Order: sequence, then C-alpha cells, then structure tokens
Amino acid sequence: MTIAETEMKMMGSQLNQFGEESIWFKLSPLLKDPSNPMRILMQMTERYGPVIPVSMASQRVVLISEPEYFKHVLVSKADNYIKYFDGLKPIFGKSMITHDGALWQKIRMPQQPAFHPDVFAEYIPYFNAAIKTKMATWEALARSGESVEMVEQTWTLAADMICKALFDRDMPFNPHVVFKYVKTYTDVMNHKSIREKKLAGFDMSDGETANTKAVEAWWAVPPAVIASDPREEREKTLLKMIEAAVADPDVPEFDEQQAIDELKQYLWAGTETTALTLAWALYLVSLMPDAADRIRREGNEVYGDREPNAADYSALVYTRAVIQETMRIYPPIWSLIRTAAGPDEIDGKEIKAGDRIVLFGYGAHHNPKFWDSPEEFRPDRWMGDAAKKRVKYSYIPFGAGKRSCIGGAMSQVENTLALSLLLRRFRPEYVGPRPAEINPTVTLTPRGGLHFKIHELG
Ligand code: HEM
Repeated sequence: MTIAETEMKMMGSQLNQFGEESIWFKLSPLLKDPSNPMRILMQMTERYGPVIPVSMASQRVVLISEPEYFKHVLVSKADNYIKYFDGLKPIFGKSMITHDGALWQKIRMPQQPAFHPDVFAEYIPYFNAAIKTKMATWEALARSGESVEMVEQTWTLAADMICKALFDRDMPFNPHVVFKYVKTYTDVMNHKSIREKKLAGFDMSDGETANTKAVEAWWAVPPAVIASDPREEREKTLLKMIEAAVADPDVPEFDEQQAIDELKQYLWAGTETTALTLAWALYLVSLMPDAADRIRREGNEVYGDREPNAADYSALVYTRAVIQETMRIYPPIWSLIRTAAGPDEIDGKEIKAGDRIVLFGYGAHHNPKFWDSPEEFRPDRWMGDAAKKRVKYSYIPFGAGKRSCIGGAMSQVENTLALSLLLRRFRPEYVGPRPAEINPTVTLTPRGGLHFKIHELG
C-alpha cells in the first residue's frame, strides 16, 4: 500500500469519527441563534461566571472566558492542556500545529527563523507583488461592475502572498476551488450533515463522498506547490528550511510526509485567518468612510507613490490599528480548544483529565470589563497611551504562550500593507445585509459571505 493509500484508509476512520467527536459540532446547539450566534455563550459567561463546566453528549466541556484563566491554560500550566484536533486531521495531517511536547518543538524549531521579524523586510516586495496582482483583478471588477464575495478575494490574496514570500512560488492551484473544499471540514454545519448521513446508514469511508473528494483535492495542493518552478531560486525561504529539515539526519521525525503536512498547515492556518481579517476590515471601513479616508491619507504621507517598505509598515500606525481592532471585533479564531491531560482546578472548579477546554476569546474581546464600548469599532484604542491600558491576555487573536501563532506578526504586515494599498486605489462598497451576520465555523466567518462592489478612485 502506498503512503497515499494508507492515509486515505486512515482518513476513512477519521470521517467516521468526525460528526460525533468534533467539539465544534458539540458546541453547535449553543451557537444556534442566527441573529447573533455568540449570544448564548455570552449570556452563559455573564450568568455563570468565567469557568463553566458543562456536560454535553457524554463529554465534559469547560467554557472559560477570563484573561487570567487563559493565562493559566496557555502559559502557566500549558503542559497540562494539550492540543485538540479531532475531525481536522484531514486538513492538517501531522503538521506541527497538531503536536505537543518534544516532537512539536523538534518540528517548529527549524521553521522558526522564517518568522523572525528581521526577515519581514525581505518578504515585503513579494507581498506587494501579490497585492498588485489583486489590484489587476479589482480593476477588471470595477470596470464590469459585478459584485464579489470578499473572503474569496482576500483568501486568494493571502495564499498568493504565502506562496510568493515563503515558498518562492507562484500559486499553482485554483484557490477558489481548493478553499471551498477546506470549508467542507471547517464548517460545523458540515459536521452535522456528516453525522446525519452516518445515522442514515451511509458508509462515510466510501471513496465517492463529497468529503473524500474534498480531501483528495486538498492533498494534491502541497505536492503541486513543491513541484512547481521556483520564481527566483531564493535560498532563504521557509520551503528551503523545510527541505533542509527533511534532509537532516538528526531530525528523523521530519520526513517527506511531514514536509507536505507543514505546507497544508501554512496553506490553511496561514491563509484563511489572514483573509478573514482583511475582509472584515474592508467591511468595517466601508461602513465608516472617515476611517477609510484616514487610511488613504496615512498611506499618502508615509510612502506616497513608492512601494511601501518595512520602515513604512512601522509608520502606518492607524492602518495597523484598524487591523488590530478588526481582530478584536471579529477574531478569526474565536475560541481555542485544548484537552486536559490531567486533573486541575481553575477558579475553584474541578478539571478532570479528558475535559475539553474551550477558551472563549471572542467573549473576552467583547467584554465591557476589559474594553470601553466593546461593540464600537475604535481603532484609536490601539494607539498611543490608550493601548497601554489593555488588560493582559484580554486580546488573544493569535493565542498566547509557547503555542501562540508563528505567523501572527507577519500577518499584520500582510494585512496592513494590503489594506493601505487597496484602499488608496479603490473604494470597495459593501452591498450585503447590515449588520453582516457571523457564522462561527472553526473560524469566524461571515454568514453568506461579504458582498462588495469595487469602485476605482479617479
Ligand atoms: C490574522 C491572521 C492569523 C490569525 C488570527 C491566526 C491565529 C492563530 C492562533 C489563534 C493560533 C494558536 C492556536 C492554538 O493555540 O490552538 C495559531 C497558530 C498557528 N498559526 Fe496562525 N494565525 C494567523 C496567521 C498565520 C500565518 C500568516 C501563518 C503562517 C504563514 C500562521 C501559521 C500558524 C501556525 C503554523 C500555527 C501553529 C503554531 C504551533 O502550534 O506551534 N498563522 N494561529
């Protein structure tokens, strides 16, 4: 049996577990208020406090919503709270995001240098190149007047930026098709339909199911990226670091499958989150023309007619604040999930081994205890002295502690530059329902998408 065949067989058993095991599926009854899916969870935290053990379908789930307990789980006692990825293995394979302990460290270490802030300056020309490609698409859209779904637009851009900057490749796949397949796995409602099909007696390991097809399409992407021609034969890229780790006899765990799975991780964890942030930011500033104008003025003053560089990024203080505020209001990862490895106590509540821990980051981001008028979009709270007042761990879009996002700082460079450059050339007009509704899948997506018309500025 080939590696691919063995993996497909394993995936069949993954699919069989998927519906019932997924914590996101278990949470879905609490997210069913369509006008505000977070309402029930927010009310629970108000009524029952910051640590709420709940028994859900034979599984204890503990909902946590206070910064000091985020710190407890993610930092102080991080070794007792291990990663949880049931149901998402087909998306992530055995990439580092799914591991714990020494193995996780061995896999992360060779890749870490690609995310040191000192190297961002080298990536910026590639981010700019991807943004230029997007601008050409938007010029055509502005001419045709057709409306577009913004997450699809920004997801393509984010994937292009990662491929160009980190892999030295042009994107050798159709992002719209591929990312539609990814959502088969990350949308909780699909977990539900998989479960219903199982109950109706469907064999979910059948090679013909839509889910299996989705996985096949997804798995074809990393080998296509690796096999495609390098753009410039650059020596210092993340892909080169991954290839060096495969060749290193001191890290036998980092085999060829590991390399492919690392790419899967970057092509999802590093793209959908970045794309959602930019799409939500465009939505917010489309409703607030003053904010859009301030971003345009700042870009004019900071880099004028040149292409922005690393120093310009640092000077784009307001634009960056818009991105930060967007991630407060719409954190792409709205909850972090862990499994308790052993017993513990949090806020006087017993934690048992095997409990699923849900760190409700969205809840803290919207809690008036930590933010003045939390429902208001106020980028200025991220600027000057106002920014210093923040309660530690009350803002966790990238997680916290040793397992925090490897690409968080880089994504802010990508999105700040993209927002600045796109708004200086275009006026994206949001044409969907107001306010846009949220749909909490594994990520926080807009229900039905975010629809825009693109206008080119004269
Ligand atoms: C707005 C953009 C992003 C957001 C909101 C985001 C969010 C997160 C969060 C919350 C985690 C921690 C998950 C946990 O603790 O369970 C994480 C981990 C991770 N992210 Fe991001 N991310 C973003 C962009 C990126 C980018 C651009 C990359 C890489 C190109 C990336 C790669 C990763 C990886 C590899 C991990 C796992 C790290 C580890 O386990 O050691 N992310 N991300």
